[in-house]
Amino acid sequence: MRFLTKLLSAVIPLSLVIAAPAQARDWNAIKDSGTIIAATEGAFYPFNYFEGPKLTGYEVDVAEAVAKKLGLKLEWRVVTFDAQLASIRQDRFDFAIASHGFTEERAKAVDFTSPHYCTGGQIAAPKDGALTAAALNGKTVGVQLATSYYDNAKKIPGLKELKTYKADPEVFSALKAGKIDAWISDKWLIKATLEKNPDAGIAAGEQLFVERVSAIVRKNNKEFVDKYNQALAELIKDGSIAALSQKYFKADITCR
Ligand code: ARG
Repeated sequence: MRFLTKLLSAVIPLSLVIAAPAQARDWNAIKDSGTIIAATEGAFYPFNYFEGPKLTGYEVDVAEAVAKKLGLKLEWRVVTFDAQLASIRQDRFDFAIASHGFTEERAKAVDFTSPHYCTGGQIAAPKDGALTAAALNGKTVGVQLATSYYDNAKKIPGLKELKTYKADPEVFSALKAGKIDAWISDKWLIKATLEKNPDAGIAAGEQLFVERVSAIVRKNNKEFVDKYNQALAELIKDGSIAALSQKYFKADITCR
């Protein structure tokens, strides 16, 4: 019986996708099902990450608070970051929350909700190393694939090489191993990672750009975006989001 239920739940969503490939779940469909499906990556500490088998982090908590406010159960899907933009268009989940900064390029493919934090892309490098954009002339930089760090690193003049990695922890490992001269990532992620690894000999350097980070949703799903934004706005107003931010960053990183 349990096997049958599992089998059915595995098969039904797939058949729905095949039957209606171009149809986003609109607000009514989400509401009627009682469950909202969210995707995240699980490798972007402390925004979305695993603690043993458990998915956690600031964005996981924000999404759960929003779902609760909407009166919905939340079901997680773990999707690699570089696959999220494409898979949301294939209807595998209702939204993704994985530190997507707003860019015009992405906005052609998906819609953005209101932001749940504001931040910046920053350089990290060995303490005596290339900690500024100017110092990166002739150097090798590592970034996560498909990120705003990649787009902004490309603009740095004179880079010797720009290496891409599937996930951010791999870039940090490459930096520690001396395979790259610098790493560009989120400034809060770098801060938290360096606090966890005080003996790595790595320091945070120049901030290169700022970005507003939101959940992404399928295009033209206006009613759902409105509901999401309304719930988030209430949670920002009553201090819930600031409290989550304090829990993970000891600072309020919501946008002002
Ligand atoms: N903020 C950056 C961007 O918008 C990186 C996001 C990476 N997220 C992740 N879950 N690894 O591209």
